[in-house]
Amino acid sequence: MSNYFSNDQIDLLAKAKSEKKYIHLKNENENLKEVMNINNLNKLISMHNCWDQKNFSLVLNKNKVPFSAFLTTGDALGFAKMAPDPTKVENYIKKGASLVLNDLVYFSKEIEKLASDLQTITNGRCQANLYFSMQSHQAFAPHFDTHDVFALHCEGEKLWNIYDNIEKDPINHPIYKQELSDKTEKPGKIIDQVLLKPGDLLYLPRGQFHDALASKNGAMHIAFGITYLKPIDIFQYYYEQFIVNDYFRSDIRDINSTDEMKDIHTKITAQLNNILNNDKLYEHSLNYFKKWPYKFTCYDVKQLINDGVQYEVVKNISIIEEEEKLFLVNEKHKVPVPEKFTKITKFAFENKIVSYKSIKSRFNNIEDETINEFINAMKNMKVFI
Ligand SMILES: [Fe+2]
Repeated sequence: MSNYFSNDQIDLLAKAKSEKKYIHLKNENENLKEVMNINNLNKLISMHNCWDQKNFSLVLNKNKVPFSAFLTTGDALGFAKMAPDPTKVENYIKKGASLVLNDLVYFSKEIEKLASDLQTITNGRCQANLYFSMQSHQAFAPHFDTHDVFALHCEGEKLWNIYDNIEKDPINHPIYKQELSDKTEKPGKIIDQVLLKPGDLLYLPRGQFHDALASKNGAMHIAFGITYLKPIDIFQYYYEQFIVNDYFRSDIRDINSTDEMKDIHTKITAQLNNILNNDKLYEHSLNYFKKWPYKFTCYDVKQLINDGVQYEVVKNISIIEEEEKLFLVNEKHKVPVPEKFTKITKFAFENKIVSYKSIKSRFNNIEDETINEFINAMKNMKVFI
């Protein structure tokens, strides 16, 4: 079940994804407008000690501002670590700098829900970055991203230029990190302009050249980046298998001709074929694919409180019954269990993990005092850990 998308929208996005064709979904769903707004942004960036060089950056005139240029030790402001100084950051924004916040999934339940929806639609893993820009200041030159992007527009307006060229399946590797001068030549001509308003979603396939310009002050969007499993990931996943392969570790000596080299290549191919083509590995790779999307996880403190403290029965102690009497035994000792504890002891050893609550719900006729006495005795005898 999707939190944010209608079935029609899911179909459109899935189609765009499979055809690798950009698509603009105009807002039909009010919920999408509520994922992020200026008030939320304000709260978010005011949690000063959450931000560091990895997740907080400013981009001015297409260049990243050095992190050290807007830092404070936080001593005077009440946070005990180096973090962005709000006054310095605001000054940069006044000058037209764009703010970029990375890795936001766990900073907002709404962002997490949308990321989760997009993972379900795409089978990819999703990260979310936020971009906040002032009017007419372009943070980034025309570029492509190395993953699919679902840009959710949140505030103000931004005009996106879609360029003709699509880089073929780029990855995050130095080979694909072009110099700025290359970038201006490669996008090709503008083939479409898309004006994004709050609640709109723009899907851009991996490699599609684009840029965006805020047409009002305070334009904000969240880019949900989707990364898919690639054959190169599968190749890396099995890298250890290549290392333990005897042939791959052997020494190559005295090669004098391309024919001899060709033999080696043939053997490498045969070994790769041996390693990769077996039913067990297909199953393994299928599981890798299934587990590829991030498993967004949160704490459940209410459940923790409700379950109460849990006790685990140690492995080297067991119980035996002799002449209708119960004993705790390990390698050296054999201790009789008092009659009043017999049932609870059996229950504890059957379940391996127990809590006051689990004992009470199983034996509601046993006094609280007896249960507490039992737990303390087990703890003292190091039966429970
Ligand atoms: Fe981008």
